[in-house]
Amino acid sequence: MSADHSSPGESHAGPSAHPVKVDEVIVTQAQIATRVQELAAEIAADHADAPQLILVGVLKGAFIFLSDLARQLSIPHSVEFIAVSSYASGSVASDSVRLMMDIRSDIAGLDVLIVEDIADSGRTLAYLQALLAARNPRSIKTCVLARKPQRMEVDAAIDYLGFDIPDRWVVGYGLDYAEQLRTLPYIGAIAPQDQ
Ligand code: IMP
Ligand code: MG
Repeated sequence: MSADHSSPGESHAGPSAHPVKVDEVIVTQAQIATRVQELAAEIAADHADAPQLILVGVLKGAFIFLSDLARQLSIPHSVEFIAVSSYASGSVASDSVRLMMDIRSDIAGLDVLIVEDIADSGRTLAYLQALLAARNPRSIKTCVLARKPQRMEVDAAIDYLGFDIPDRWVVGYGLDYAEQLRTLPYIGAIAPQDQ
């Protein structure tokens, strides 16, 4: 399974033969930490009367963001994961989205927060919103670490946004390039020749 979607290297025979380098830091570790705290405070305030908030992390890219966000959340919550795959050519945004792994719990009548790494075209987020909204949750909101506003093609609602970033391929803090550089502590853009 190609668990994460639209890593540009996926369409090639394998990961790049040469190590991919970060060209520019887009969001620092300190900026991320501050923003994650702010987002958690906002989410907690907005869900103060939610009997059971379910965080739905989108694998793989959101796993680090979700783990930091969840630990800052002062209200009761549970954690689920969902995996989707999208078909992409090169570093072009996903064309169609497919469900690879579903969440395990019934969300009917409950409050859901989709936690996603990045909105590029917005298709993945729109797909997940429609998929989960059809299961009759009490509420459904989205929290996205980064958005590339210049590339958004689909009108996917983002309720909580970490950062607007330029139209570059970014890595780190969960985001990968052909499965590389996912665990960098900051968000960095890779050199244009690597994209
Ligand atoms: P969308 O469906 O076009 O919005 O694509 C979103 C998905 O593509 C994200 O969930 C990421 O997995 C992946 N993606 C898009 N841009 C980047 C990037 O710059 N770095 C890493 N992954 C990205
Ligand atoms: Mg993703």
